[in-house]
Amino acid sequence: MRKREEMTLLKLLNFLHVLMLSVFTGAADGYYFYTWTQCIYSSPDLRDMELIESFCFNKYPVLRFNSTVGMFEGFSDFGVKTAENWNNDTNLLQQTLAKVYTFCKANAKVYEAAIYRKKERPEVRLTSVMPGDSTHPALVKCSVYDFYPPPIKVYWLKDGEEVTSDVTSTEELPNGDWYHQIHSVLEYTPKSAENISCVVEHASFTRPMIYDWTPPAPGFEWDIRLLFTVESAALLLGIITATVGYIYYKIKTWS
Ligand SMILES: *[C@@H]1O[C@H](CO)[C@@H](O)[C@H](O)[C@H]1NC(C)=O
Ligand SMILES: *[C@@H]1O[C@H](CO)[C@@H](O)[C@H](O)[C@H]1NC(C)=O
Repeated sequence: MRKREEMTLLKLLNFLHVLMLSVFTGAADGYYFYTWTQCIYSSPDLRDMELIESFCFNKYPVLRFNSTVGMFEGFSDFGVKTAENWNNDTNLLQQTLAKVYTFCKANAKVYEAAIYRKKERPEVRLTSVMPGDSTHPALVKCSVYDFYPPPIKVYWLKDGEEVTSDVTSTEELPNGDWYHQIHSVLEYTPKSAENISCVVEHASFTRPMIYDWTPPAPGFEWDIRLLFTVESAALLLGIITATVGYIYYKIKTWS
């Protein structure tokens, strides 16, 4: 439920982004004029926020406002003349410069809260990869799905002690939708009185989360060797039946 609400928020921000590109399609034959507003910054406190407002016609930049310069700059004859004109209008210059606060910084705060500082709790699942027996080790997988941000620590505990060997893990794999997943496989010898757990440490948790492993009850396993055995038995039964039938038929026809 929470995830869906956040996705809606992301879509809303995308919509804002489209609004920034206010496209005016002029004639039906496809000339178009558009403005493109960029808010560029690298300081977390938004101190170095720079606004670049570009005016373009059919992909050619005509005019640009750079907030660090505080003036319009023109390209092409028309652009240069327009820039001269607009730079004489102190009201327009002040209004455009004010967008550093009213547009750029205001939106950056919204984006940071919704994306940069976003934290999503993972879903953790423990599954048996191989049950193991007296001669083969067992394999258990700890799958951690749908977390954000990517940094995460996944490790195993055996009777409360961290396991350092017999562990194979993937990287944090991006889902392609902001969320990530990671998988870790532990090889162990099935012993009755051993407690195995998977531990996940992530920014979305206030403490390490421990997930205990309950091995599956030993049951009937349809493995490949068993299938061959059943198949061979069926074939043997078929041959015997055919042979007995043939002999019976021969005896019948003789008498
Ligand atoms: C804006 O102008 C400043 C000062 O001339 C310059 O350092 C900066 O690179 C310009 N920004 C862009 C995106 O061109
Ligand atoms: C801009 O202002 C200057 C001085 O006030 C003036 O000389 C110039 O003609 C003006 N340019 C335009 C395009 O209005």
